[in-house]
Amino acid sequence: MLFKKSIPQLLAEANESGEGTLVRSLSSFNLVALGVGAIIGAGLFSLTGIAAADNAGPAVILSFIIAAVGCGFAGLCYAEFASMIPVAGSAYTYSYATMGEFMAWIIGWDLVLEYALGAATVAASWSQYFSQFIEGFGVHFPVTLLHGPWDKIDVAGQMVNAGGIVNLPAIVIVCLLSLLLMKGTGESSAVNNVLVIVKVAVVLVFIALGWSFINPANHHPFIPVNLGEEAVKSGTKGFFEFFASDEFGHFGISGILRGAAVVFFAFIGFDAVSTAAQEAKNPQKGMPIGIIGSLVVCTLLYVLFSYVMTGLENYTKFAGDAKPVATAFAQTGYTFLNKFLIVAILAGYTSVILVMLLGQSRVFYSMSKDGLLPKVFSDLHPKNQTPYKTNLMFMVFVSIFAGFVPVSDLGHMVSIGTLFAFSLVCIGVLILRKTDPDLDRPFRTPWVPLVPILGIIVCLLMMASLPIVSWFRLAVWMALGILIYYAYSKQNSKIRKQYQDTLK
Ligand code: ALA
Repeated sequence: MLFKKSIPQLLAEANESGEGTLVRSLSSFNLVALGVGAIIGAGLFSLTGIAAADNAGPAVILSFIIAAVGCGFAGLCYAEFASMIPVAGSAYTYSYATMGEFMAWIIGWDLVLEYALGAATVAASWSQYFSQFIEGFGVHFPVTLLHGPWDKIDVAGQMVNAGGIVNLPAIVIVCLLSLLLMKGTGESSAVNNVLVIVKVAVVLVFIALGWSFINPANHHPFIPVNLGEEAVKSGTKGFFEFFASDEFGHFGISGILRGAAVVFFAFIGFDAVSTAAQEAKNPQKGMPIGIIGSLVVCTLLYVLFSYVMTGLENYTKFAGDAKPVATAFAQTGYTFLNKFLIVAILAGYTSVILVMLLGQSRVFYSMSKDGLLPKVFSDLHPKNQTPYKTNLMFMVFVSIFAGFVPVSDLGHMVSIGTLFAFSLVCIGVLILRKTDPDLDRPFRTPWVPLVPILGIIVCLLMMASLPIVSWFRLAVWMALGILIYYAYSKQNSKIRKQYQDTLK
């Protein structure tokens, strides 16, 4: 039998835990700001360069558009759930109501890839801009403490080992922010609004100042040639041979697709709007506006930003460059603004790491409350009322990844994990429309089943274009999760226990 939570039960639980007393203070504008605040970060400021250099060339602009379309479909599905179940939820909660406990566990476990590894990815890139910043004051950070042992850098067109031991600044920022979270210092909406204004301002300044320095030659060829693709077209190579080869995803059309999967990372965070559903003044209206509005704003900014960036500097120059924005900006005559640019980028990254770490602890907190994880994950600090043990554990977990794993490997893992979660949310909408067609849906995803199906297809396409090794890692992570589910979670699930009690 399928163990599910009913929607009235979810709403009641939110009230029981005191969450129902949260003040409904966020306007639609605040929600869009929250989304933009959680969205703009390393994806734009670091991965745009990587995706341009390794995958799409100047056509990274198209990669952004494809990723935005996929997120738009998934966003519409999120909006239906978030307006219907306006509790402090996430994909985990939605799936508990639609697809049952096992799928909820799968999503919750999978969200570790989005939030915890997302925080690690952003922290790993944070340190590159940090070193650039202190360099401006004549302080040289030792390269051994700036890169993990497997990080590569570009030396005269060749990718070579960076010669690092550990990415120390990344570990320090993760620890500082985790300690902050343990103390209970959350971002207030006002602080978040300021950070968003700073972040958006730096993006606009980059676009406005960089525009007149664009060298049109840098945009040619717009789609660099992929020889494997040409061979498939001329019939000298089979598609599957090409698909399985290293050539797939390096420029050409397949490169644009893989680029989309890479820069998809830049859109992650719009789902954070749904976690604030309970604090929205009018969630029925605010949720869809917050989710879709922040996606639209970010898409426009990303397209313009990547156009300017690949116009300022040739895409090949971004290979192995963890701070491509600074590299591109160096082509303008405004290098005296470099320090401001970097401070704003660092502030932007910091807020993303904080939101990700917060989101992670919230998901594990909910899973522990439901009995799927040990109680230690929902133990609250007696004074600060924060799940400090979870924060502590993730501080260690995230630090290890941020300190030792290359940023592009991390980025791929986050993308594949999140795309998987988004596909499941789209499936959830399809299921709930069948199982509970009469539920009150203040916002209805348009053109069901088309939109959720397209959402699933675009997410799967982006997943398919990620390196095989990411699939393998996802499979290993999920297998570990399934093992834990059967060894622990199933036995300790509260909902199962309640059911067994009713049989006694
Ligand atoms: N979208 C967030 C970023 O790009 C995760 O940093």
